[in-house]
Amino acid sequence: MSKPEPLTHDVIVVGAGLAGSWAAMIASQQGVKDVAVLSKIHPLRSHSGAAQGGIAAALGNTRPVPSTGAEGPLEQVPDGSEPSDSLESHIFDTIKGSDWLGDQDAIEIMINDAPRVIYEYEHLGCVFSRTPDGRVNQRRFGGHSAPRACFAADWTGHVLLHTIHEQALRHGVKFYSEWYCMDLIVEDNICRGVVALNILTGEIHTIRAKAVMFGTGGYGRAYKITSNAHANTGDGVAIAYNAGVPLMDMEFVQFHPTGLYKHGILMSEACRGEGGYLVNSQGERFMERYAKAKMELAPRDLVSRSEQQEINEGRGGEADRDAIYLDLRHLGREKILQRLPQVRELAIDFVGTDPIDKLVPIQPTAHYSMGGIPCDASGQVIADAQGTPVVGFYAAGECACISVHGANRLGTNSLLDASVFGRRAGFAIAEFVKGGAQLHPIAGDPAERNRQRVRSRMENPGKESIDKIADALKTTMTINCGVFRDGGKLQIALQDIQRLEERFAHAPIRDKSSRFNTDVLNALETEHLLSFSAVIVAGAIARTECRGAHWRTDHPARDDQNWLKHTLAQRQGEGEPPKLDYKPVNINYEKYPPQERKY
Ligand code: FUM
Repeated sequence: MSKPEPLTHDVIVVGAGLAGSWAAMIASQQGVKDVAVLSKIHPLRSHSGAAQGGIAAALGNTRPVPSTGAEGPLEQVPDGSEPSDSLESHIFDTIKGSDWLGDQDAIEIMINDAPRVIYEYEHLGCVFSRTPDGRVNQRRFGGHSAPRACFAADWTGHVLLHTIHEQALRHGVKFYSEWYCMDLIVEDNICRGVVALNILTGEIHTIRAKAVMFGTGGYGRAYKITSNAHANTGDGVAIAYNAGVPLMDMEFVQFHPTGLYKHGILMSEACRGEGGYLVNSQGERFMERYAKAKMELAPRDLVSRSEQQEINEGRGGEADRDAIYLDLRHLGREKILQRLPQVRELAIDFVGTDPIDKLVPIQPTAHYSMGGIPCDASGQVIADAQGTPVVGFYAAGECACISVHGANRLGTNSLLDASVFGRRAGFAIAEFVKGGAQLHPIAGDPAERNRQRVRSRMENPGKESIDKIADALKTTMTINCGVFRDGGKLQIALQDIQRLEERFAHAPIRDKSSRFNTDVLNALETEHLLSFSAVIVAGAIARTECRGAHWRTDHPARDDQNWLKHTLAQRQGEGEPPKLDYKPVNINYEKYPPQERKY
């Protein structure tokens, strides 16, 4: 491969989803001249666009009709009446949803920012669905005690992403489309740039920058059944970890209750927010057994466990007896076409079922990572439990852990998190760069090191198949580190990962060409999947309690005495497990002391 000159920018943002696009757009708008975004796929195919059901904000634009109870239709708030929602209620729901592992100061920041972010979207031209009198419409979502998901039918992420992408272009942000970030350059705790592969040409470049921001998204592709795009291989999380940044709370992986059966594709929680039911193979609305008050609108960890229990006890459907059913038939054709058009199309296209008149088979699907790169509310990445910053390195969105979701995220709080903290990171980066940040020298030739990384795998004489290794990893993560976990299964996952890492050492890149070599990408992505999966499992083995999405059947209770703390996992030498450290959760004991979590 040829050796191009290093590129330079004031700011390089990796990832063009909502967090990255907000940060780039704001930094540029605030007067930073040279902001560039690197995206491994076309920016508008970023996974934020796949979020369907809504973005949370306590606007109080709609409210339940009291007489019809939890499943009743929504009623518009008449002019002058009391709002049906409050910031306080959104904050409490989020803390409770997080099983008290969320940092309460960060949660307050996110939720207080939410209404202004929605109005900013609106003023930038975002086409929200409307109430009859023209307000931004809002629907229910699980774990939220009021209808607070602002939505655009079931295309919410798509319209938000288009809105911010347009604005980023308007402010002169440069996009490197189909460039893959391979490495982060950090020396002496100062971030100096990244190394990136131009997928089209195969050239590998050092990109120097005064500030680097990661908005690289999640890692659902470590699991067999996932709602995540093929691109969601946790590259940013693994790259930061390999560069010496610890990872926080990685053991908390969210399973969304309604992934399309055998495909995992998202059937939005909006289906249940609009009144849909979950039924088992006997036609029972089984949530009555698990969450009598909230039913299908209990939080995701609880609903996914309930589904899995129904399946484990033999009440699942389809040939493999491992499906649950989503029943939307009673919503009627008009409502489905108006509110859930994408969901309907996906069900027809992928399982040949029209939800207007048939049950849709679904199952829990790996959806979201609560953990990630530790950072503060301005996106500043933190290097250790003492809060030391990695100068010039920022992160936001799903790859980051601030932590606003703790042990379980509420639906619609992720688009909010990416928007609020991407925006805040943009302001912080602008201040940092305009305050005199420098391009720092770089020791050695990191691009050449990464060229050698690819070359040596191309020249590897081994016979192992990277595809088979990735597949085996996804299988063990699904079986042994899924909705229900125990010490024995987690140990199996750990040993499997160690064996797969050994096999990976003998796995060659077979395609030796330069241009658009997807074999190279697959190798790099698989290396990343292996490295952070070991962190997920190590954290899950150590955490001997049940909290949010981390459910240990061999330790079946929450243990605040020992485990009300965040995990920090630091990379050790090649082949060694991570070193685990812990730091306290930020709790306001006067206002929001830990309570039993019941729905
Ligand atoms: O179900 C959904 O529409 C997903 C939303 C989310 O994860 O926030």
